[in-house]
Amino acid sequence: MLLGLSPDGASRPASPFASGRGRLIFALDVPTLQEARTVLGSLRGEVGMLKVGLELFVGYGPEAAVLAKEHGLPLFLDLKLHDIPETVGRAVGRAAMLGARYLTVHACGGRAMLRQAVARAAEARAVGGQLEVVAVTVLTSLDGDDLVEQGIAREPAAQVTALSALAWDEGVRAFVCSPHEASALRVRLGPAAILITPGIRPTGATIGDQKRVSTPAGALRAGADAIVVGRPIRDAKDPAEMARRIVAELDAASEVTG
Ligand code: C5P
Repeated sequence: MLLGLSPDGASRPASPFASGRGRLIFALDVPTLQEARTVLGSLRGEVGMLKVGLELFVGYGPEAAVLAKEHGLPLFLDLKLHDIPETVGRAVGRAAMLGARYLTVHACGGRAMLRQAVARAAEARAVGGQLEVVAVTVLTSLDGDDLVEQGIAREPAAQVTALSALAWDEGVRAFVCSPHEASALRVRLGPAAILITPGIRPTGATIGDQKRVSTPAGALRAGADAIVVGRPIRDAKDPAEMARRIVAELDAASEVTG
């Protein structure tokens, strides 16, 4: 395994986002393992990483994580953990044992929770694991009124900035953000931050319930390292062809953005 020294001094495996395919994270949003295997079979290795979320993980637990291994892909475990530091730390340790490469936690879980999560991931990497904690800041389903109801007076964008700064301070180096937040976060956090953006729609695709969308190339131009795509691939007539189209767009955009 290649290791690089990151700015916070912790060693990390080489970035999986070195190619267009590597930058494409497929959201495996299906209710059963059987459906997961069907869609993965039809993808024939055209994506760079698998995102397993709450639906499959609550349904099947570690069996869902095995899907990534079966297909030789890194695992992005999107569990959005938010609990007391001890509980989250222990869950991070278990995620590392499952071989996950990325695991999401809520930045609003607070400083001590973030510190514990980062520490447990670093411990796992020190013994050969690959796990990196990814912070989710403000869910895109929340608006300013929702924040006010929670006693947070600032605008969502300012809350994203504040929470990402807190997470960065505690050693988090990877973030989920909307393509529209990516450029501001890139400027604020610099080149060492890993920015992962959902809300992606290839040109001509159905937007569905995503409100603020971007194309794959637009996300990279905004500063994203990787994109999460679910339905446009899952529901395509030919998922492999759709994934290839997205990868080609990412490759072309990477050449331009460098
Ligand atoms: O199907 P679609 O491409 O919209 O899938 C998006 C994926 O990204 C889903 O798994 C969803 O949970 C996730 N996501 C999102 N918006 C966020 C965070 C995560 O759509 N703000």
